[in-house]
Amino acid sequence: MQAIILAAGRSTRMKSSFSKLTFPLLGKRVLDYVCQAVDNVDSHDNIVVLGLHNKDIELESGFNRVLQEIPAGTGDAVIKAFDSGKVTGEAILITPGDVPMITAAELGGLKDFFLNCACDVAVMTMAPENPSGYGRIVRNASGEVERIVEEKDAGPEEKMISEVNSGIYLVKRSVLEKLVAGLSKNNAQAEFYLTDIVGCGRRMGFAVKAWCCPDAGNLDGVNTPAEMARALSVLRRRKNISLALSGVVIMDMDQVFVDWDVEVGPGSVIYAGTVIRGKCLIGKENRLGPYTEISDTVMGNGNTASFSVIESSVIADSCQVGPFAHLRSGTVLDCGCKVGNFVETKKSHLCEGVKASHLTYLGDAQVGSGTNIGAGTITCNYDGVNKHVTLIGEGSFIGSNSSLVAPVKIGNHAYVAAGSVITKEVPDQALGIGRGRQTNILGWAAGKGKHKNDHSLPGLPDA
Ligand code: UD1
Ligand code: CA
Repeated sequence: MQAIILAAGRSTRMKSSFSKLTFPLLGKRVLDYVCQAVDNVDSHDNIVVLGLHNKDIELESGFNRVLQEIPAGTGDAVIKAFDSGKVTGEAILITPGDVPMITAAELGGLKDFFLNCACDVAVMTMAPENPSGYGRIVRNASGEVERIVEEKDAGPEEKMISEVNSGIYLVKRSVLEKLVAGLSKNNAQAEFYLTDIVGCGRRMGFAVKAWCCPDAGNLDGVNTPAEMARALSVLRRRKNISLALSGVVIMDMDQVFVDWDVEVGPGSVIYAGTVIRGKCLIGKENRLGPYTEISDTVMGNGNTASFSVIESSVIADSCQVGPFAHLRSGTVLDCGCKVGNFVETKKSHLCEGVKASHLTYLGDAQVGSGTNIGAGTITCNYDGVNKHVTLIGEGSFIGSNSSLVAPVKIGNHAYVAAGSVITKEVPDQALGIGRGRQTNILGWAAGKGKHKNDHSLPGLPDA
C-alpha cells in the first residue's frame, strides 16, 4: 500500500495567511499527525501533494513531495501525483492532510474492508452529528453507494443525508489512474473533485464500496479556527490519557497541556494550568504545577515546580523550583537545589544543594555546591555592552541584598556581608564587605515634631 496525502489546498476558511496543515497542535503540525497515522498502517513510498505556498515545508522522513501548482481540486491533486511518476503501489490510500485526529485504527479498518470485500474502490464514510460542509454519500435502494455529492452541489434532499465522505479512499492503482483521467470540472466549484471517482467507478462497473467508520469524531477535517480548537482539545485529551495510562497523574484533564512528543515518567503529578512544551524529557515522581510552563527542558526525578516558568534548562533530581521562579535558557540545576520565590536564573549552573530562595537574579553565574544565595542577591552581569561571568565557590554564603558586579569571583567557604556591592575577588574563606558603615546620630529624634507640618525627610548633619 502507498499513500497520497493531499495538502496543496489554500486553507481559505482559516481566514488568515498561514496554512492549516503546518499549524502546530501540541507542538506537532497537523500534517505530521496524518503522516504518522499513514506510517503506522504499513504504507510505503508515501507522497504528500503540496502547493506553491507550502512546497518547501519540511516533511517527515520517508515522504516524497509532489507539487500541485494551482489548487484545481482534490482530483487534480491526485492527477499531479500520477504525473510525477511516483505513484507505484498496488493499492493507493488517499487521505486529506487536514485530518489530524485520524489514527492507524481507522486507516487499518478501511484496509481490512478493502481486502475482505474485494474492492476496486473503497471510500471511508461517517455519520457525524452535523454533516454540513461534507460531501454526502448517496446510496441506491439496495444500499450500495451510488455517488458522492458535494454540499455546494447538493439539492435539499441530498443535504438531508447524514452519511458523509471522510475524504479517505483506498483504490487499486490501475483503477484510480483510469478514474482520475476521466474527471471533469463540471460542478459548483469548477474543480476536479476526487469524490467523482465513486460515481464514475460505479458507472464503469468497478467494485466501488463504502465503509462507514464507527469512530467518526477522529475523521473530522480542520478547515476553520473553531475546528482547529476542537482538534486541539481532542488531541490534548488523547495525550493526557496516554500519560495517565503510563502512570502519570493528571489532576485536570482539560487544564493540562502537554505537547505530543513530551515524555513524562510514572509517578509524576501534573496540576492544573501546567503547560509542558517542545522537547521536554521529564523523569519520574515530579510534581509539576499548578500554573507552570516548562519548555525544552530535561528533568530528572523527584523535583517540584509550581507557579513557575522553566525554559531550555536541565534539572537533576530533588530540586525545588518556585513558587514564582523563572529559569531561563541555559540554567542547570544539580541535585537538591532550591530556586524559590521571585528568583530568575539565566545561563547559570547551580551545583548540588545550592539555595537561592528569594528575590534573586543569577545570570552567567557558576555557583559551587552547598552555597546559599541570600535574598535580594543580584549578579550584575551586563555592563551595557557585554555580559560577564560571576564565579561563586562551594559552601559560601552571599548575604542578602548583595550586588556581585561581574566579572567577579567569590571563593570557596567565603562570606559576603549583607548589602555589599562586590567588585573585587573575595578569596576562599574570606568575608567580603562592600558597603558604607552605619552612623548613629544620638538624640536626633528628640528634635522631631517641633514643626507639625514639616514632613520633609530629615537631612544628615554637617560632616
Ligand atoms: C473534501 C471532500 C468532501 C469530504 C471532505 C472531508 C472533495 C471535492 N470533497 O472536502 O467530500 O467530505 O473533504 O474532509 O474532495 N487539496 C489539495 N489540492 C486541491 C484542493 C484540496 O491538495 O486542489 C487538499 C487540501 O489541502 C486538504 C484536502 O485536499 O488537505 C481536502 O481539501 P478541502 O478543501 O479541505 O476539501 P473539503 O472541502 O473539506
Ligand atoms: Ca477539509
